Amino acid sequence: MAEELHLPTTQEKGQIYLALLPQVEALIKDEENLVANLANISAALKEAFGFFWVGFYLAEDRELVLGPFQGPIACTRIAAGKGVCGAAYAQGHTILVPDVEQFPGHIACNAASRSEIVVPVIKDGAVLMVLDVDSDRPDAFDATDQKFLEELAGMIANKF
Ligand code: SME
Repeated sequence: MAEELHLPTTQEKGQIYLALLPQVEALIKDEENLVANLANISAALKEAFGFFWVGFYLAEDRELVLGPFQGPIACTRIAAGKGVCGAAYAQGHTILVPDVEQFPGHIACNAASRSEIVVPVIKDGAVLMVLDVDSDRPDAFDATDQKFLEELAGMIANKF
């Protein structure tokens, strides 16, 4: 399995996100299909950062169902409250996990995953989906990732 070769500094991350977000906005502007847009957003994030796993879980009947993603095969369904994704879904806020082994109930879809951030996409008070980003390095995510990924989630919520 290819490793993420280089962890960007906080400053480098900021620059990458600042370039990426307008591109994502342009990418989804003229397309109304949810799957097509989420697929391209996953690819854009994977290309820009080389994340180990990046993608979406969509809310359906109080559980999360795997949506468009980039990376290794993942669990298809996650119940509300289970794992990091289910917790972010149930609680309606971002969860940043510097070390997945320290997160009670973390779902190891892939043993190589070491740190993770999950950002809910919220519309009219309801969580529509979560954006899950996993790294094969510990402590890969910080407040910069949270800020820009939440901005991205807001963009998706506005669109749908
Ligand atoms: N680790 C996640 C499950 C999803 S995958 O890793 C792609 C969790 O604990 O919610």
